[in-house]
Amino acid sequence: MLKNKNIILGVCGSIAAYKSAFLVRLLVKAGANVKVILTPDGANFITPLTLATLSKNPVYTQYFEEESGVWSNHVELGLWADLIIIAPISANTLAKLATGICDNLLTAVYLSAKCPVYVAPAMDLDMWKHESTQFNIDRITAFGNVVISPGSGELASGLFGEGRMAEPEEIVSFLDNSIKKLMPLFGKKVMVTAGPTYEAIDPVRFIGNHSSGKMGFAIADELAKLGADVTLVAGPSAQKSTEILNRVDVTSAEEMFEACNTFFENTFITVMCAAVADYKPKTIATHKIKKQEHNLVLELEKTIDILTSLGKRKKDNQILVGFALETNDEETYAKSKLEKKNLDLVILNSLNDKGAGFKSDTNKITIFNRALEKTVFELKSKTEVAKDICEAILKIIK
Ligand code: CTP
Repeated sequence: MLKNKNIILGVCGSIAAYKSAFLVRLLVKAGANVKVILTPDGANFITPLTLATLSKNPVYTQYFEEESGVWSNHVELGLWADLIIIAPISANTLAKLATGICDNLLTAVYLSAKCPVYVAPAMDLDMWKHESTQFNIDRITAFGNVVISPGSGELASGLFGEGRMAEPEEIVSFLDNSIKKLMPLFGKKVMVTAGPTYEAIDPVRFIGNHSSGKMGFAIADELAKLGADVTLVAGPSAQKSTEILNRVDVTSAEEMFEACNTFFENTFITVMCAAVADYKPKTIATHKIKKQEHNLVLELEKTIDILTSLGKRKKDNQILVGFALETNDEETYAKSKLEKKNLDLVILNSLNDKGAGFKSDTNKITIFNRALEKTVFELKSKTEVAKDICEAILKIIK
């Protein structure tokens, strides 16, 4: 969740500042872009060089460099951040946040930022328990800031009790979970089908189609980025995903049907993007079919229409999205699929549109909703198309 997030780490004057080095490492490892701001006291506990090396960014300590006159723009830094984490935050900086005192770069960036702010306090037991500190904690929480509570244990003073800054691993997993919870599809189970199906003729041959799986994988990735718990049912495809943890590989329409049947019951959203074969050989030869003198006739039988069968089972609290790949009378066929298959959205691809459909990295879609309202989109990359589809799904949820 922290991948590509812009994070400002504020470090205040506390012995726990040594832990900020580990925190930077973990955030960078999670794929975040990290910029560190040290308060003047923080710089007494850990050097800018350490944090700059680990974060791969210059460390900010003051509004401007005296010698060069280079000015650190607090407003720009505040707006750059997707989130601010101040770890450790001292009793002193807590009090400043509670009252709006702005006497260093970190407090100025805090006041300029529009993103969520998290603080991980670190101080001695009695300072933490003090009514003033607790008052300030309540106050900054009321402003919408999030406190990552300190743990108990041996403190730098030698005393035992509450006041130890949360461990860097705990802070990272706290941030990760908080981001997830803010996502529109957090905790929602979603199923996406992708790719072609292969219907065996004999041990070496099959009936297939040109689907690459790119569109379905892009949709699955996009839904995962919105926080959904995605199950991807994939036909034979060379595509890979780093976002999807639950991938079920299938080959034939029948296998895809079985997988979809298993997962559908608990899914909130299902997007059927796979190019499922409509027909399969009636019998699969046990041995390789040998070349014959005359033509070979294969008898084909219908596969089950997975989407239609899910449409019949669909409950009111489930969203079902299907595709319609057409070459003629596109809108009429798409609308009839929406109705016949009991869909909430149908995504129309016309093979008459250049750059749309199979194999390419782009697609051009038209979406019809249940009220048969039509939205036409430009030719875009499949990632962008996936975003448009997810946007249309989120509109239904809202
Ligand atoms: N689909 C399915 N099972 C099938 C065939 C199609 O679940 N056996 C799904 C596809 O994943 C897609 C939608 O149905 O979401 C429409 O697929 P498409 O091939 O466009 O249409 P068909 O219903 O197969 O009809 P036709 O081929 O006659 O256009």
